[in-house]
Amino acid sequence: MPIEIKDADAIEKMRAVGALAAEQLEMIEEYVQPGVTTGELDRICHDYTVNKQNAIPAPLNYRGFPKSICTSVNHVVCHGIPSDDKVLKNGDIVNIDVTLIKDEYHGDTSKTFIVGEANVMADRLTKTCQEAMYLGIQAVKPGGHLGDIGHVIQRFAEKQRFTIVKEYCGHGIGKVFHDEPQVLHYGKKGTGPELKPGMTFTIEPMINAGKAAVKLLPDQWTVVTKDHKLTAQWEHTVLVTDTGYEILTHRKDDTIKRCT
Ligand code: MF3
Ligand code: CO
Ligand code: CO
Repeated sequence: MPIEIKDADAIEKMRAVGALAAEQLEMIEEYVQPGVTTGELDRICHDYTVNKQNAIPAPLNYRGFPKSICTSVNHVVCHGIPSDDKVLKNGDIVNIDVTLIKDEYHGDTSKTFIVGEANVMADRLTKTCQEAMYLGIQAVKPGGHLGDIGHVIQRFAEKQRFTIVKEYCGHGIGKVFHDEPQVLHYGKKGTGPELKPGMTFTIEPMINAGKAAVKLLPDQWTVVTKDHKLTAQWEHTVLVTDTGYEILTHRKDDTIKRCT
């Protein structure tokens, strides 16, 4: 199946739901403090999505996922399940991944928050991962190739002596949550499908402080680093435009521009 090209109406709806997802991460920031549980963060996001944004939390019941957001703390790579037993403490890092549905379209974005005061490694890993995502986004332009994105992400992260998680990737997104293509966070320049205006997909690198290997916990969702070292992730939903990219889930705290 070829990669879907969105028309003007679909792009408008992707912009609208992307803005809601971005707003949700801005909203939750003040609650990410030592002492809060990830279960509480899930309830706040759920209620905000449903009652304030009149949108649907896509993760809830998606392939049996039990909560409305993913919360991945410290050595948890992705798909962490919020719990009332998981209390955040000073110095933890937590990725909060939100996906909303509005008018049938999905907006998917995540950010790694530092709880309280950062330690040096947590700070460096988190910033490197955000910067790697930005470099991937800046590689998006019509006529470029999907492999250009993975190439710059891998080169940058490995230069800082971090490792890239290979088992999970970004994805096409629209009416379908996880659509084609797979957006790898490693690879070679000039390889893969050509990027064309109207394509929408996520870029969501997971970068580890230790080895690249991951394992799935018996709950069949939580992915952790095998060596239990720290890991970070950032995610945006992007649109390929005539001139480059547009970040559909752009927030006020983003340090690159929404569009080129
Ligand atoms: N939001 C995640 C992603 O970036 C997917 C979460 S699926 C869930 O693709 F079921 F775990 F919520
Ligand atoms: Co996500
Ligand atoms: Co995603």
